[in-house]
Parts: sequence; structure tokens; C-alpha cells
Amino acid sequence: MNQTLESRIDFIRAQIKSGEYTSPSRECTVIIETSFRELYRRSIGLLTGPDRIKVNQTEIQIGGGTKTLDDFTMGQLVALYRNSGFLKSWSTATGNELRGITMINLDEMVRLRNSLHHGLQEATRNEAELLFQCVQSILETFGILSLEAVTADAPPLVPPAKSREKSSVGEASAYLPNRAPEVNRLHLQARNIEPFDIALLAAATKDSGSGPLVVVDLGSADGYVTKSRFAADTYSHVLGIDRNPQMVHEANASLQPGSKFTFVHADLEDGGLETAIETFLAENNLHSVDLIFSALTLHHLANPIKLLRACRYVLGDAGVVVLRGSDDGSKIAWPDLENNVARIIELTLGSSGVSDRLNGRKLYTQLYRAGFRSIDTMHDVQDTAGRSPRERGLMFQDSFAYRADYMARRAENEPGNVQLARDLAEMRERLDELEFDFEAESFYYSEMAYAAFARIS
Ligand SMILES: C[S@@+](CC[C@H](N)C(=O)[O-])C[C@H]1O[C@@H](n2cnc3c(N)ncnc32)[C@H](O)[C@@H]1O
Repeated sequence: MNQTLESRIDFIRAQIKSGEYTSPSRECTVIIETSFRELYRRSIGLLTGPDRIKVNQTEIQIGGGTKTLDDFTMGQLVALYRNSGFLKSWSTATGNELRGITMINLDEMVRLRNSLHHGLQEATRNEAELLFQCVQSILETFGILSLEAVTADAPPLVPPAKSREKSSVGEASAYLPNRAPEVNRLHLQARNIEPFDIALLAAATKDSGSGPLVVVDLGSADGYVTKSRFAADTYSHVLGIDRNPQMVHEANASLQPGSKFTFVHADLEDGGLETAIETFLAENNLHSVDLIFSALTLHHLANPIKLLRACRYVLGDAGVVVLRGSDDGSKIAWPDLENNVARIIELTLGSSGVSDRLNGRKLYTQLYRAGFRSIDTMHDVQDTAGRSPRERGLMFQDSFAYRADYMARRAENEPGNVQLARDLAEMRERLDELEFDFEAESFYYSEMAYAAFARIS
């Protein structure tokens, strides 16, 4: 469980006061680093066109075309900020002043951070106090008020102990939806599964009456899935809700005036569902929601059943809820001589900060436990049979390529974790082998998408 930012700041202050300097200094550098990454993710979409291009080009330059922000070291992160003039662009775009932050010696901070994290030196009182001031200045300048705001979609600053248990009720996942590769992966997945979604929605709404439907999409990200699935005239008003402000900004950016789509930024777990829907209905002079759709999102919540219960109360009498998920247990391959698929999945499931990868099997029961009774399920099998090498390669990208990323992020935060470093190396090696396997025409791979839908009456 994450502590609040306030309590962590208090703790750091108390530690410094008591004469402990190294550990609070390390903690300060972790907060600074996470704030920098988060500010970048959240603000890139707000920058003016030319500034945004400059920042993107600098990111590509620093990452050599292969690494992106999340793989950057602190030194690279600082280089990105400096070389692209990111802070100045941010200040211009948001109208916020940079204040004390311009006085921070970023190079010295990176040097100190590296020495501390690699155990090369102990921090002095002066260094601890200086870093603590940097943290305060950064949080104040960027308006970061809570640790949840910093970590909502990022790995916990202090990663939780390694756990093999991925409970559907418990901690929310450390999901990073606005990294460019992750967004591309989601779009790819969305295109592959579109025919299934269309069939699923047709089955779920076959008894919904003749009038056009009012729809809410939970976890709508940048609106890609929402806009493609609900483009038809059978849907009159469509509200997408997501907690990621940058994605919501992107979803709204491409809308024409008078569009039937609205995207709002809200946390579904924080009463956000009810408030967003109430406002949306009132603004559009509507009375109730006919269809709630949610794809690949429920498993990111700490308590999906609670949200589904709330859905029952916002749906109209003939309302229907439609859920789609995925499940690592459905992934099989042959011949897989090194057992790469099973081992890669095992390594993923054992890695903390990963969302519940076994969510597909739970959808039916989650609906049942939330009080729905008339529940149907549908499944979609995607496999390599008859696919071109390029299509098979894309399938690998979609289902596996990203799996080292979570571990790599953790490894960066835990440089002394030898087991994690070993697991990461094994993961990368197996992913390389599996990518080759996918290219072979004789290799077979298959996986399933799971969906469940339920009516109120
Ligand atoms: C894997 S993406 C799925 C996006 C889209 N539905 C799709 O199928 O491509 C999950 C989305 O859920 C959002 N999300 C996760 N937890 C949330 C919460 N508590 N409240 C609102 N949105 C949340 C994330 O920001 C992210 O955009």
C-alpha cells in the first residue's frame, strides 16, 4: 500500500532531523525521478506542436530509437529535460512559473543519486537537506499534491515485496498506459479484436429495444476503442471515463464540435463513476445509461466488484454491462521446445506491479458477485494459423514483447536485487527466442479473449 506523499515527506523530514541522511536522500531522489517521469507523461500532450516535436525528437535521439522515457536512466531523463527545453515548454504551455526549480543543479543531483543508489557513498547532512529542498521545490512547482498523483499509473516508488499472488481485490496495478509502445500495443490489440467486439455488442444489446443507446466506456484511454466500437447510429451518446488526464485530453482533442462522444478524466474507484455519469446525463438531458462497456480495465482496479455494483445503480431498467478481458492461462504454443511461453508467463506473474494477467476467467464470477444474475459469456480465439510472418510478428508484439518492461522498470529502482536482474536477463533471452519461433510457419500459438455481459432485468 502506498503511503501518502505527505506522510513520506514527514518521514523524510523526521529522519533528517534525527541525524539519518543516506536513506532519506535516496528516497528524495526516487521521488524526484518519479515526478520527472510523471510530469513528462502527463504534460507532453499539453505542449505546443513545435515544442512537442522537439521533445519527442530529443527522446528518440537520447534513446537511440529503441529506449523510451521509461527505460531512461536518471541521467538520460535530465538530458531529455535539458536538451529539449522541456521545462520552458511546459511553463509556456501551462502558464506556470518555473520558480526555484531552475536553481537546482541537475547534474550534481544525478551524480549524487547514482552514488547513493549504487552504495558508493553515504549522504552528508548538507546533501540530504539540499535534496529535500529539491523535492519540495519540484512538488510545489509542478503542483504534485499527493503520492497517488505521482504514482497513479506508475510503479510504486518503493516497489512492494515480490509476490506471486495477483488478487483481483487489493492493490491497483502499476499500469503505464501513455507510454508510446504501450499505446501502440493497445491499438494493435484493439484492431485485432474489433470484429469480436462488434459481435459481442450485438449479442449484448439484442434485447435493448429500438431507440439509440446511451453508452459509458470505463477505462476509455485515448478513446481509440470507444470511437471505433460506438461509431454506429445505434449509439446516440457515448461517455468515456479514464483516470489518465493526458489520454483523456488526446481522446477529446480529435472530436468535432457537437460530437456524440465525451471523454472525462475521473477515478472510477473514487466515486468518479457516479459523478461523471450524473454530470453527463444532466448536460445531455438524458435519464439513464443503457450500456456500460469496459475492455481490459477492470483488472487494474483494486476492487472491481465494488465498481460493478455501482454500475448496477447507474444503469437503467433494461441496461446491460459488457466486459472484455484477457487471460495468460489461455496462451498455448507448439512446438515450444524450451517451454518459453509458460516460463515467460511465469516470470510475468511473479513480477510485482503487473496487473492481474488472469482476469479473463474471473469476469463471470465478478458480475455474479456484484449482484448480476442473467450473465452470458463469449470467447474469441486468436491464433497463428494461416497468418503471414508479419501478422505473426505483430501477435508476438501484442502478447509478449512488452513483458520485460515491467521488470526493467523495477530493476532500475532496485539495483541491488540480484534475483530480479537474473529474472530480467532470462526474460529477455526467452523473449528473443520466442520472437524467432513466431516467425516460423510451423510454429503454432493461440490465445483467447474472454467477455461476459449481464442485464439488469
Ligand atoms: C489496458 S487500458 C485499456 C484501454 C481500452 N479500454 C482498450 O481496450 O484499449 C486500461 C485503462 O484503464 C484506465 N484505468 C485504470 N484504472 C483506472 C481507474 N481507477 N479509474 C479510471 N480509469 C482507470 C487506465 O488509465 C487505462 O487507460
